[in-house]
Amino acid sequence: MQYAIDATDETPVRSGDIRIHQPEDFDGMKKAGALSASCLDMLTDYVAPGITTAQIDARVREFVLDSGAVSATIGYRGYRHATCISLNHVICHGIPSEKVLKNGDIMNIDVTVIVDGWHGDTSRMFFAGEPKVKARRLVETTYDAMMAGINVVKPGATLRDIGAAIQKIAEGAGFSVVRDFCGHGVGRLFHDAPNVVHYAEYRDRFAGVQRAPLTELKEGMFFTIEPMINEGKPDVRMMKDGWTAVTRDKSLSAQFEHSIGVTKNGCEIFTKSPKDLDRPPYAPAK
Ligand code: MF3
Ligand code: CO
Ligand code: CO
Repeated sequence: MQYAIDATDETPVRSGDIRIHQPEDFDGMKKAGALSASCLDMLTDYVAPGITTAQIDARVREFVLDSGAVSATIGYRGYRHATCISLNHVICHGIPSEKVLKNGDIMNIDVTVIVDGWHGDTSRMFFAGEPKVKARRLVETTYDAMMAGINVVKPGATLRDIGAAIQKIAEGAGFSVVRDFCGHGVGRLFHDAPNVVHYAEYRDRFAGVQRAPLTELKEGMFFTIEPMINEGKPDVRMMKDGWTAVTRDKSLSAQFEHSIGVTKNGCEIFTKSPKDLDRPPYAPAK
């Protein structure tokens, strides 16, 4: 078995510069992105009350290996699972466990696969049974916020424009944008420059006003947009396991993630669902 950690001489290193990719690189990302998206598609009917998050993870691991791909997360900085599963008030990087899903739980499932050296990184929200109205509204708003961010991407727009679009949707609905985690450059590396923050501006109690960089987007840049939106305050607490991030006020949190590439006039979404299951409540378009 091959893990992402088995670096070879060809494995690029993070340089700090934002990489510009060539047309053939888009093909590589499309393949990897389609596989990670179809993995999430496969989970749509599987997630239900009564199963454990470890069972979901096992399913994903099997799906990835059967597809001849490699999980990017197994072995990544000591992480041992094919998914992150972030339940209810977990913001991100929830670890699959023997916890049994119950009716009304909402969760983000995040999968990253490597195909021919390219990383497809995507996540969606899933429901166990029927979510409460408020939870559904948070999930739908988070999807809309991610898409609003994606829709401003084109050469000449800035990273701050992405954050502004996301923040407007999230805060407009009365929710808050998590500041401690961001999207990232993606491609042959899992996490590359730039950091893609999901806000334009906020005031930190100690450090004062924080603004997203005005870095200009250029054709050929690849990155993720993966906003985490909280029902309550944006503040994060880390659990002792070193991975799980939860809302400090224990309010619900939601997240969606796409990997995208900047094109001449806009962007291409590499991780679009082949079954049109990107958007909750996941009824395919007729
Ligand atoms: N897929 C996550 C992201 O969106 C990263 C998970 S790293 C892991 O960037 F080690 F926690 F799996
Ligand atoms: Co990511
Ligand atoms: Co991810």
